[in-house]
Amino acid sequence: MNTQTGFDPNANHASTAPAYLSVWDIEAYYGESYIVQGVSFNVHEGEILALLGRNGAGKTSTLRTIARLGDPELKHGEIWLDHKPLHEMKSYEAATNGISLVPEDRRIIPGLTVEENLKLAQIAPPHGWSIDRVYDLFPRLGERRKQEGVTLSGGEQQMLAIARALCRDIKVLLLDEPYEGLAPVIVQEIAKTLNIIREQGITTIIVEQNAVAALKLADRAVILDTGSVVFDGSAKEVLENEQLRAQYLAI
Ligand SMILES: Nc1ncnc2c1ncn2[C@@H]1O[C@H](COP(=O)(O)OP(=O)(O)OP(=O)(O)O)[C@@H](O)[C@H]1O
Ligand SMILES: [Mg+2]
Repeated sequence: MNTQTGFDPNANHASTAPAYLSVWDIEAYYGESYIVQGVSFNVHEGEILALLGRNGAGKTSTLRTIARLGDPELKHGEIWLDHKPLHEMKSYEAATNGISLVPEDRRIIPGLTVEENLKLAQIAPPHGWSIDRVYDLFPRLGERRKQEGVTLSGGEQQMLAIARALCRDIKVLLLDEPYEGLAPVIVQEIAKTLNIIREQGITTIIVEQNAVAALKLADRAVILDTGSVVFDGSAKEVLENEQLRAQYLAI
């Protein structure tokens, strides 16, 4: 029990509904460096979970471990997605099973238009949304379908990165700092689309330095500190707990 925040990371916070994505006691290393130090949390289907913490807390490393990128290397623990053992999978198998990581740098492919970036995402099955459906959600992308992807504004590039994920048959969207460098009005626009994506049944984990924006969007929050979970509860609880925010989020 953390006497300052009242949070007990060892308590059972699971709801009675079976978890859709279950991360259990994962430990991951970059070489000899022990970075993800026994992280556990559950995410329910269609939920948005904010994964928060200070710089270097291990947020990106946790997302990379869930996506099974191999770096950091998972050495202990289990990750289950809808009863499937992600911890036994390589990254391409995790992707085929519906995990999609949108990294911080967005990885828009140079030399390709918006539409070509989307078409490329659709080359291999399993297929997700049609390009028309994507343009319905992101009209800005439809208007710029012939523009080279890398010349889009930061916000539009983030939309393209999310849109590209939707072109695959995804179940869980892992977003690493989607709001980074974006104006508040664009953050609001992206948050609106993430709500629509949630209504379509997609489960999302959002990592954000802009904790307030992420908490306003999320149902639940997990806070990491030096590679361990220090809070797991409702997003509202974090917004209302000044001490927790000051201690682990510096806001
Ligand atoms: N490739 C790597 N090799 C060795 N150590 C790494 C590597 N990548 C990250 N680390 C270390 O792992 C720790 C966690 O990093 P991580 O990127 O997961 O943090 P984060 O919470 O995403 O931070 P930020 O908010 O700054 O993005 C840090 O101490 C970082 O220096
Ligand atoms: Mg990071």
